[in-house]
Amino acid sequence: MPTIKVTLPGRSYPIVIERGVLEESGRSMDTYGLGHKVAVISNPWVAERYGPGVLASLRAAGRRAAMLTVPPGEGAKTLGEAERLYMELARLRMDRRSVVVALGGGVVGDLAGFVAATYLRGIDYVQVPTTLLAQVDASVGGKTAVDLPVGKNLVGAFHQPSLVIADVDTLATLPPRELRAGLAEVIKYGVIADAALFVRLGEEAEAVLAADPATLIDLVQRSCEIKAEVVIADERETGLRAILNFGHTVGHAVEALTGYSTLLHGEAVAIGMVAAARMAARLGMLPAADVGHLRTLIERYALPTEVPSALAPEAILETMQLDKKTRDGQLQFVLPTRIGAVEIGCAVPEAVVRAVLAGG
Ligand SMILES: NC(=O)c1ccc[n+]([C@@H]2O[C@H](COP(=O)([O-])OP(=O)(O)OC[C@H]3O[C@@H](n4cnc5c(N)ncnc54)[C@H](O)[C@@H]3O)[C@@H](O)[C@H]2O)c1
Repeated sequence: MPTIKVTLPGRSYPIVIERGVLEESGRSMDTYGLGHKVAVISNPWVAERYGPGVLASLRAAGRRAAMLTVPPGEGAKTLGEAERLYMELARLRMDRRSVVVALGGGVVGDLAGFVAATYLRGIDYVQVPTTLLAQVDASVGGKTAVDLPVGKNLVGAFHQPSLVIADVDTLATLPPRELRAGLAEVIKYGVIADAALFVRLGEEAEAVLAADPATLIDLVQRSCEIKAEVVIADERETGLRAILNFGHTVGHAVEALTGYSTLLHGEAVAIGMVAAARMAARLGMLPAADVGHLRTLIERYALPTEVPSALAPEAILETMQLDKKTRDGQLQFVLPTRIGAVEIGCAVPEAVVRAVLAGG
């Protein structure tokens, strides 16, 4: 089965990508020598649909396993929810050899990862991502976080999982809109690192949108390979890892200004990618035809390409300046130079940013 190794200084972990692997979680944990007491953290819907298979597999492999649930949605990524989980782990007498399993989308992954990073100063955790966004992005790379009332992901830790189990069969139950939002991140990988992936996404759109398992395995695998390569080169985002933020500067601002409710993260990233490509074209860094190719692909996946008209360019600019990725108030963008390559740390004149945000 496709397995990708993420090798970092002093440790490495595998990402297993296949159909049905969720129900082999226990055996996979045996293979990689992970502990015997397990707390599975999930949300109610995912716990009900996929929890029994995971718990049965863990117990069949001789593990003591309990299920802990958190409320659905981004609202669960709070310090309060983390504290409640610490108390549950303590009640279960989880020790340093115990393991947290994050079963769900990026919300559960970020929260459970953060709890694993901090409980007893850090215990092992396994990511079992069940959304496409989590399989291609959130579950890989070790960024864990909770939100504060003033902003997303403001409290967190780098804590790499010990194992990632991506079962593409779980994507069959994913609402189509969530699947497409995850595809925005796959398109991102094409633009930043792999022109062939970008072309494939255009050619195989029908199979992708029909959630054909073999096609999804390939896409998840290629996406994880790219993310793993970047994380291996720059675990703590001191340089190269910033390429993963392509489309995210404008995307985050649009998400924040729409209250994290009208647009999914991937949809905001789709808008941000088109905006960044337009900036690059205006600066003469990217052929105008490539902006068209990107926009066409994004539209093929029924993702948005335009900043919502209710958002004033000035408000987006201001929000971007508050983003934690801003350096000394200077707006920095990741801009494409062709399909398959980007440059990080591009300073873009405010007039250009404004013009693009106004739809130009
Ligand atoms: N740590 C990172 O590197 C990283 C990267 C990107 C995003 N994130 C974070 O990820 C979060 C978004 O993740 P997400 O898009 O997975 O959202 P999510 O976790 O909220 O999941 C989306 C919805 O899908 C449901 N769901 C999950 N699996 C399902 C399945 N198999 N079938 C049907 N429904 C299912 C969930 O219950 C939820 O309602 C954000 O909090 C973001 O900050 C983290």
